[in-house]
Amino acid sequence: MSDFLKNKSLVEVEGWLREEDPGRLEELWVAADETRRRLVGDEVHLRGLIEISNYCIRACAYCGLRAGHGDVERYRLSREEILECARLAVQFEYGTVVLQSGEDYGIKRGWLTDIIKTIKAQYNLAVTLSLGERPDEDLQEWREAGADRYLLRFETSDRELYERIHPPAKGQEISDRPAMLRRLKALGYEAGSGVMVGIPGQSYRILAEDILLFQNLDLDMIGVGPFIAHPETPLGRGEMPFASEGMQVPNTELMTYKTVALTRLVCPEANIPSTTALATINTALGRELGLSRGANVIMPNLSPVKYRALYEIYPAKACIDEAAEDCQGCMKGRIRSIGRIPGSGPGGRKKAVLPQE
Ligand code: 5AD
Ligand code: FES
Repeated sequence: MSDFLKNKSLVEVEGWLREEDPGRLEELWVAADETRRRLVGDEVHLRGLIEISNYCIRACAYCGLRAGHGDVERYRLSREEILECARLAVQFEYGTVVLQSGEDYGIKRGWLTDIIKTIKAQYNLAVTLSLGERPDEDLQEWREAGADRYLLRFETSDRELYERIHPPAKGQEISDRPAMLRRLKALGYEAGSGVMVGIPGQSYRILAEDILLFQNLDLDMIGVGPFIAHPETPLGRGEMPFASEGMQVPNTELMTYKTVALTRLVCPEANIPSTTALATINTALGRELGLSRGANVIMPNLSPVKYRALYEIYPAKACIDEAAEDCQGCMKGRIRSIGRIPGSGPGGRKKAVLPQE
């Protein structure tokens, strides 16, 4: 066992986030990769991402799908379209589908319950939901219908920053996403969360706190990607304050790798994707480098190609114009190119028995 992050303390994590020495960083990548191999193995699990709706009632300051953004042409997939995507997932040998959307109450509880039941009965896939903050009754019914996992990034552990970038829905209190993640776990979901790297106002200290909160919540899945400015949003237009001189985390590729690697070391058995945002800022090698520095999951886009450009959370998103067939071949090629193996089966969290240190 390496002596990396022995105490998993805030000071240590922040120190690593600030590390610039190439030799030391190389040690960090190796430690993360070693831990990944030992705890979750060489398989890279494939989760087919189905972007089922781009309607959203929220006004998150970073997101291109925010309610106030009137230029977005909105869509919601039909039941048949969703089931056709699930069929493709089986054909491509993905073990999981992820149903993702904005916070869209046009997605009715019973309508989705029926779709989840149908996917479970016909396709034997793991089903992950990523639909924003829904009431407990919805979450419970969907869990009982067979949904296995739920993704909800808490975006930042800092309450003040959270409030700035994620204003509450009309007439509602500011939400508590860590509390919601605990509820999801209590309902029997595998729970996933994450943050963006380099949002304006995010200090090194805050990002270090975020990483330790991943551990504290005992998350099953953790997604981190760089913040990418969307010009039609307050954060993208530079309307929100940066952290003070020397404190602001840059939204760079390198900082994202540091965050992925530290996340792996702090949460050694979590499923960690190499994200689309990372592939967007380095289309040539972002996916592979993420996988080599701690990640073990890829989420290929399975949405019908004609809708992909409309799911514009941030600009120039990777994999929006290729046919789904190409994307899956490309992904598997990328995985094999670095000596890894496309995963089979649902690829849920494996609880490891950690050796005594
Ligand atoms: N840049 C990068 N990631 C973003 N997300 C939303 N907007 C952006 C952006 N501009 C991330 C958020 C959200 C996830 C679905 O996408 O973390 O939870
Ligand atoms: Fe999507 Fe290459 S990763 S086409």
